[in-house]
Amino acid sequence: MAAPQPARRLRGFGESQIRRFTRLAQEFDAINLGQGMPDFDPPEPLLAALRQTASHQYTFTWGDGALREIIAAQTAAPWGAPVDPDREVTITCGVTEALVAAVFAVVDPGDEVIVLEPMHENYVPAILMAGATPRVCTLRAPDYRIDPDALAAAAGPRTRALILNTPHNPAGRVFDAEELAAIAALCDRHGLVLITDEIYAEIVYDGRRHLPPAARADLRPRTIAIGGLGKALSATGWRLGYAIAPPTLTDALRKVHEYLVICAPAPLQEAAAQALPELGEHLRGVAAAYQRRRDVLLAELTAAGFEVPRVEGAYYVLADCARLSARMGAPQNSSDAAEWLIRHARVAAIPGQSFYLADVAGAATLLRFAFCKREETLRAAGARLREALA
Ligand SMILES: Cc1ncc(COP(=O)(O)O)c(C=O)c1O
Repeated sequence: MAAPQPARRLRGFGESQIRRFTRLAQEFDAINLGQGMPDFDPPEPLLAALRQTASHQYTFTWGDGALREIIAAQTAAPWGAPVDPDREVTITCGVTEALVAAVFAVVDPGDEVIVLEPMHENYVPAILMAGATPRVCTLRAPDYRIDPDALAAAAGPRTRALILNTPHNPAGRVFDAEELAAIAALCDRHGLVLITDEIYAEIVYDGRRHLPPAARADLRPRTIAIGGLGKALSATGWRLGYAIAPPTLTDALRKVHEYLVICAPAPLQEAAAQALPELGEHLRGVAAAYQRRRDVLLAELTAAGFEVPRVEGAYYVLADCARLSARMGAPQNSSDAAEWLIRHARVAAIPGQSFYLADVAGAATLLRFAFCKREETLRAAGARLREALA
C-alpha cells in the first residue's frame, strides 16, 4: 500500500526560517536577534491582571466583550469613524490566525493575492493553503517605496486581495499618504479586499505617525484591518490579535475563526481587558523606548561593518555586510551567512532572502536583526559582531 502523503497544497513552503534560527540560537548559545520577541517582561499591570483572572471556559467565539469594546474605541479615534465591537471586531489567536482567517474568508482556489516583498513569512503559506497564488510586487532597497506602476502590474483579473503590512517588517517603512493613495486606487480599480497587518502600529519613530489605511473613507468598506497585542505589550506568547472589518467581511472571517480555534484563550483575553485601561502611559512610551533600542543596534551594526538603511517603524533592520562576505569567502546565500554568524559570532539573525519569494540580486549577505531586546543585550551582540568581523 502507498505510504500516506501530505496534501499537495503544502508543497510550496517549508519550515519558517524565523523559528529555525531560534532553534539554532539555542543550540549555539547565541544572542537571538532573529525572532521578534522581547527579552524583557510585559508591563506589570498586565501580569497582575493575569494573576487574578478567573476565566477558564470558552469565551464568545468572536472574543471577550470588554476587550472588543476597548479595541473598537481605540481604533475609532485614529480612524475618525465609529467601530462596532459586536459586528466588526473579532479577537483571534495572534495576528497569524487573523491573517489566515482573512485570506480564507475572501479568497477562493485559483484566485490571486498581491503581496509586497520583502514580506513577513506568514503571508505566502496562508495564500497557498487557501489554494490561491501570490502575485508579488517588489519594494526596492534602500527606500522600499511603493511604486504605483509596479503595484498595478501585479494585479490581474483573478486578483482578489492585497496584503499590506505597515509599519513594515522587515523593511522598517511606515507607508505614507501618497503610497496609501496608490493602494486605494488599485483596490478600487480591481475590486480588491485590502488585508492590513498593523501589528507594529504603536512602534513608529522620529515623530512619524502610523496611517491606518482604513482611516480613508474609500478603503474602510473593503479593508480587513488586523492588529495585535503581542508586540506593543511585549507579550508575543499570549497570542492575542484582532481583525476589524465591515459586518459582511467579519461574518466570513468569523466562520473560519470559529472552526479553526473556537476562540482565543479566555484567561488572556480577560487579563488584557482588565489591564488595557491602565496601560495608556505604557503604550504612549513604547515608540520612544524602541527608538532608543533602534539607535543602539544601528550604531553597533555600523561599527561592525554593516550598512543599515533608515528604520521608520517596527523593530527590525535589514542590514548588509560586505565585510562578512570577505570573512566567510563569498557566501552562496543569506542562509549560509546567518549560519556563519551564529557559529562564529554567536549572534542569531534571519537570512534576508527568507523575506523574498524571488531571488534578489546581491542579497547573499542581507540579514534581518530584531532590536526588541534590552540595551545591554544589543551592546553585547554588537561586541560579538565586531570581534567576529574584525
Ligand atoms: C509583520 C508581522 N505580522 C505578523 C506577525 C505574527 O504575529 P502574531 O505573533 O501576533 O501571530 C509578526 C511577528 O513577528 C510580524 O512581524
